[in-house]
Amino acid sequence: MKHTDIKKLYETPKEFVGKSVTVCGWVRTARDGKAVAFVEINDGTCFKNMQLIVDKDKVADEKIRPAMAVGTSVKAVGKFVESEKNGWEILLEDVEILGECPADYPLQKKRHTLEFLRSIPHLRPRTRYFEAVFAVRDALSHAIHGYFRRNGYKYVHAPIITGSDCEGAGEMFRVTTQPWNAEYKSEDKYNADDFFGKKAGLTVSAQLEGEMAAMGLGRIYTFGPTFRAEHSNTTRHAAEFWQIEPEVCFCDIDDIIEIAEDFIKSIIRETMEACPDEMEFFNSWVDKGLKEKLDGVLKSDFGRVTYTEAVEVLKKSGREFKYPVEWGLDLQTEHEKYLTEEYYKKPLFVVDYPADIKAFYMKQNPDGKTVAATDLLVPGIGEIIGCSEREADSEKLKAAMTKRGMNLDGYTEYLDTRKYGSVPHSGFGLGFDRMLMYLTGVQNIRDTLLFPRTVGSL
Ligand code: 4AD
Ligand code: MG
Repeated sequence: MKHTDIKKLYETPKEFVGKSVTVCGWVRTARDGKAVAFVEINDGTCFKNMQLIVDKDKVADEKIRPAMAVGTSVKAVGKFVESEKNGWEILLEDVEILGECPADYPLQKKRHTLEFLRSIPHLRPRTRYFEAVFAVRDALSHAIHGYFRRNGYKYVHAPIITGSDCEGAGEMFRVTTQPWNAEYKSEDKYNADDFFGKKAGLTVSAQLEGEMAAMGLGRIYTFGPTFRAEHSNTTRHAAEFWQIEPEVCFCDIDDIIEIAEDFIKSIIRETMEACPDEMEFFNSWVDKGLKEKLDGVLKSDFGRVTYTEAVEVLKKSGREFKYPVEWGLDLQTEHEKYLTEEYYKKPLFVVDYPADIKAFYMKQNPDGKTVAATDLLVPGIGEIIGCSEREADSEKLKAAMTKRGMNLDGYTEYLDTRKYGSVPHSGFGLGFDRMLMYLTGVQNIRDTLLFPRTVGSL
């Protein structure tokens, strides 16, 4: 269908001014003025709408009136001209309706609540809010790939169906093709008969596969869907989310913290530059002061405290937290938020967590109690990155696994990386959707995903 993208008209208007142009799009708004009617259409190529000016004598036209109904998809032809108020507009000459839009179209009003829009995820991309969300989501993805490409990381694709549980918190979705039936006397027999001949699930993290790839390729990253069957019905948890997991050889915990900070700043900067209109929208309508906050993040150094210090700060805060604060207990969102939002007031790396509350693969510190692990906490959200140096010593690693009751036979390939030419290496996992929340000020992870999957909702 021959037509010009609205984005192109705004980018190189001089090329089109005074000429007849054809644009396609959905009618976003229509209103009658004194001498003319104004119809704004959007084709998804840019955040700005294009205004069509319809002569009053044309408005009554059989063809034109239905083409002005909100939600209708149209192909419009007219002269592209400069306008005082809008910059550019089109004096409508002819219009073809591509798809009618009856009056029960749910997006008639200009503004809807996010709760209501969540009930119509298939139509959400036609709203300004979600157009902005998905434009920034796209730009952020490209910024992430760009960062790693510039810095010599190989993009690897880890399997989504896996037999190993990386995080060990029992949050894996099962993958199976056979229903359980009473003839199976044991779970082992049932699993042996299943598609893969063993128990399979959806990945909770690509890290273990990523480590194996990095042990030959040096520096890698994965960027893919991640699944957690957590029953956490919060604004920050999704059952299916996207995670970025770089893995770097010849790299200790201090090196990876430096990389993570550089990475976060770089992707914020690049995305803000790529989406000025959308960021302006979020700054005005979603989170006033967002741009100032992000500019501040770019200029400042992230904080760093040990878990032990953080626990002291929380204990001395005089706050009544819902969850207890005690050395050895995991930090909850309320604690993370206090630390990063109120006490340190900036993104914060909390390092050296107790080994007992973290995963098996983290490097054991000489104190025998903590591991070289860090979470990056940010104001407004809490944890966005989980990071660690990996235990490179085969014996120590096996001991940590045994202590957690893991079956070592399921991890022979992973353990081989420690047996054959083990090296110090580190990595992290960034929750992509949480990063998007941080960048846009969007308050609920359900509003960052095209079709969010959360407990009880598919
Ligand atoms: O802290 P997590 O569990 O770390 C790992 O999976 C490591 N294997 C990463 C690594 O070192 N390669 O998860 C990493 C991040 C969290 O910080 C959070 O941002 C995000 O993934 N995340 C979730 N995001 C949305 N919904 C959920 N249910 C999430 N669970 C974790
Ligand atoms: Mg974590």
